[in-house]
Amino acid sequence: ASRERLLVVANRLPVSAVRRGVDSWHLEISVGGLVSALLGVKEFETRWIGWAGVNVPDEIGQRALIKALAEKRCIPVFLDEEIVHQYYNGYCNNILWPLFHYLGLPQEDRLATTRSFQSQFDAYKKANQMFAEVVKEHYVEGDVVWCHDYHLMFLPKCLKERNRKMKVGWFLHTPFPSSEIHRTLPSRSELLRSVLAADLVGFHTYDYARHFVSACTRILGLEGTTEGVEDQGRLTRVAAFPIGIDSDRFIRALELPQVQDHMKELKERFAGRKVMLGVDRLDMIKGIPQKILAFEKFLEENPNWRDKVVLLQIAVPTRTDVPEYQKLTSQVHEIVGRINGRFGTLTAVPIHHLDRSLDFHALCALYAVTDVALVTSLRDGMNLVSYEFVACQASKKGVLILSEFAGAAQSLGAGAILVNPWNVTEVASSIGYALNMPADEREKRHHHNFVHVTTHTSQEWAATFVSELNDTIVEAQLRT
Ligand code: UDP
Ligand code: G6P
Repeated sequence: ASRERLLVVANRLPVSAVRRGVDSWHLEISVGGLVSALLGVKEFETRWIGWAGVNVPDEIGQRALIKALAEKRCIPVFLDEEIVHQYYNGYCNNILWPLFHYLGLPQEDRLATTRSFQSQFDAYKKANQMFAEVVKEHYVEGDVVWCHDYHLMFLPKCLKERNRKMKVGWFLHTPFPSSEIHRTLPSRSELLRSVLAADLVGFHTYDYARHFVSACTRILGLEGTTEGVEDQGRLTRVAAFPIGIDSDRFIRALELPQVQDHMKELKERFAGRKVMLGVDRLDMIKGIPQKILAFEKFLEENPNWRDKVVLLQIAVPTRTDVPEYQKLTSQVHEIVGRINGRFGTLTAVPIHHLDRSLDFHALCALYAVTDVALVTSLRDGMNLVSYEFVACQASKKGVLILSEFAGAAQSLGAGAILVNPWNVTEVASSIGYALNMPADEREKRHHHNFVHVTTHTSQEWAATFVSELNDTIVEAQLRT
């Protein structure tokens, strides 16, 4: 039997394009949990529709890029510079992203954001319409159309307006905040109504789903049931689908000679020291300054550890045109410099901070040689880095320190040391606890998490979502 066709619609394509010439393009794998998880999904005949991360004003460039992307089963949506500025940098990443992570707007930007709100929301809707047009062009009857994330909350409505019979699902990769937070958005109702046009709406955790249903009942006055949200007899199914990773891919990679070589190099490089690891996009939600300050406090209080531990922080540059991200970058550099100056010696520094991404194999090697991974997100939809670390630790059985504000705390909580990242004292003492943990406790904790990560995979996540979407549609047909 032929595999079911799946149109994955997300702002970010799995590859981002870099221009090499008038009609030549180089494609790089995009960084982020959404892309990582969806790349693991193989049981569908998948096509991606999204933005290639680059402005292509000329037709020659566009045609060449369409061709290059087609080989990766990707279809581009071309957004011009002004739209990207207002929709992506503005509405998505300066308004929705901080709000959904309970961060609020930076003080000095608050008024400016209030002023530009309407034009940014208009650009958001316009961008979503552009995505809808490309979906319409490539849609074949029977396709499952799966929309992703906060960039595309307006899309389910745009799609259903074009074709009522389209099977439309929407999944949010971030937290959905308490309705009290969502209520502050000027566009609160319009966004909820457009998401409700989907047949199935999914979240990482039950809490996020519950927040969404409360927002619909309190703000729109609709009826929330155990199944979802009802509006004049029409049900939008709402449920939790915790995402996972392609764990086999990581486990297999560790067997490769080049990964083994890389592990050996790292072990030699850091011989005699315990390795602590952070891997994050350089984003406010990841709590990188908080993590580094906790590490400083640990060194301050434990002089005997100063030359015996190193923190490797991979901080992947992200959304670099948004001012808040630029400020964070200089803030982190400042703190790292200060601490390395304070505790460094002529031959070693306590923190290695990298402002770049690593390729998959280098990342696997790093995960495998790590003694303690530190995930200190202030809020995080799920956090796949914590899953990937666990998948690579079958022989080392290192310790995971994990923020209680990451979705992953609900699945890896029993094996990890859970911390409140705002409490630097608590994180510092957890670092000490993790570094001194006896082998039998490490084994027990690792085992718990390893079983979870290898059984709750991204393949299973996608299969469950799509089959629930198909069931929902069959049930809706039976009801009418
Ligand atoms: N990642 C990557 N290259 C890097 C660092 C990270 O590809 O140099 C990937 C990492 O493997 C993970 C994803 O980026 O799959 C981050 O996902 P997560 O859910 O932890 O956070 P997000 O970036 O989506 O907020
Ligand atoms: C998070 C979001 C994704 C996004 C990724 C990278 O994981 O949920 O939608 O793709 O961050 O961010 P970017 O803005 O580069 O796409």
